[in-house]
Amino acid sequence: MSLETPEQTSVSPEPLPAEFCTHPGPDPYAGYAEVRSGCPVRPIEYPPNSEAYVIADYETVSKGFADRRLSKSVDHAPGWFREALEQSSPILIKNMLTADPPKHTRLRKLVGNAFVPRRMNELRPRIQEITDDLIDALPDEGVADLYNDFALQLPMRVICEFLGVRIEDWPLLHDWGMVLSNAPYLDDEGNRRLKQVSDDVEKYLLDLMAERRADLREDLVSVILKTADADEAYSDEEIVSTLILLIIAGHKTTANLVGNGMQALLRHPDQFELLKSEPDLVATAIEEFLRFEGPVYRAPQRFAAEDLELCGQRIGKESVVHLLINSANHDPEVFEEPEKLDITRKPNRHLSFGVNVHFCPGAPLSRVEGAVAFTTLLRRLPGLSLAVAPEDLPWRFDNSASRGLEKLPIRYDRKLPR
Ligand code: HEM
Repeated sequence: MSLETPEQTSVSPEPLPAEFCTHPGPDPYAGYAEVRSGCPVRPIEYPPNSEAYVIADYETVSKGFADRRLSKSVDHAPGWFREALEQSSPILIKNMLTADPPKHTRLRKLVGNAFVPRRMNELRPRIQEITDDLIDALPDEGVADLYNDFALQLPMRVICEFLGVRIEDWPLLHDWGMVLSNAPYLDDEGNRRLKQVSDDVEKYLLDLMAERRADLREDLVSVILKTADADEAYSDEEIVSTLILLIIAGHKTTANLVGNGMQALLRHPDQFELLKSEPDLVATAIEEFLRFEGPVYRAPQRFAAEDLELCGQRIGKESVVHLLINSANHDPEVFEEPEKLDITRKPNRHLSFGVNVHFCPGAPLSRVEGAVAFTTLLRRLPGLSLAVAPEDLPWRFDNSASRGLEKLPIRYDRKLPR
């Protein structure tokens, strides 16, 4: 993909093709570097004909997270976008991720202290058990799909248990999550499917809430209901929307951390051997995996609440603005040798969990899951290696903000006991 560098910032450069975001190929980083080297705020095509921009450098991306003019609310979105969501999935836009303060502050209180590091460390023994069970279930013959058989299963099981959702229902929740995370759609068929899935998931969660209200437990659904019902400031729609967000945000992201991190590690044998011989490096290794091949390549979209200018680029009201997290994480102004995987990197001020009020509340949970997963996989699977050439790894490209694999074929010599 060729990207022209603008001669001057006062003249708006040609928009980047939409595929720059949606189908960047296996290595998006060369394209990101090209955009960063020119004006780091660039127009991009955004069907159907909306004004849209990507921001690629660390400084402007990190400021963008805190810029109140860049709203998360669909009230500031282009008309077609807002209408598609309001008609097909109103339930999807009633949680903290699509709200600005002060509404955001109220909605975020629903998860309150649920994810503080101390509580997440209490989950560690159970996360270890699930991890070992999943490794026990891998084929003895030494060939497996580590993404679908492990990386995706671990966070899904953890979030289901933590929330108090029946584990047998997870394939259904996963499929619903895939449809919801690509919304809104450009075609009627896509939006009809979105409406069906939104109705189904809403009914499923309302039934679960009714069950819990009749019999409160220790799980997160019960904790959220206790907070909400004590306060009386929350509608059932807001609670359902928050639960949908936790299900969507709580599994594919962490699955990508494990999948993307493992493929990066297996492609860098020196770093693989280092982590194997010094498992205490796992905490800095996880941060480096998050930086090097981040699970969410761009922040959930912002909308310009007014006309504004960033780095000399005019941005019209209601424009869609993408903060390119994975490009900012490779900015040489901030990271020494950004294209090098260095599991000892410190400091590592990556932006993979966002910054400011929307900072990911699930970060402590994913960090624990990632640490347990990598330490256990490296210990129990001697001879771990990629079973395909790196260039044949199938990356998933869709309309969501996710950066992850379709599958991760691996080999190992044997499985050691837990
Ligand atoms: C490695 C894994 C993860 C990554 C990379 C990640 C990344 C992010 C990012 C970039 C945002 C958006 C920040 C913004 O728009 O400014 C976010 C928000 C959020 N994440 Fe995560 N996330 C991960 C795991 C999780 C998990 C495990 C959960 C819950 C179980 C979770 C729950 C949330 C929620 C509720 C929000 C909305 C916060 C708000 O709007 O205030 N995330 N995450």
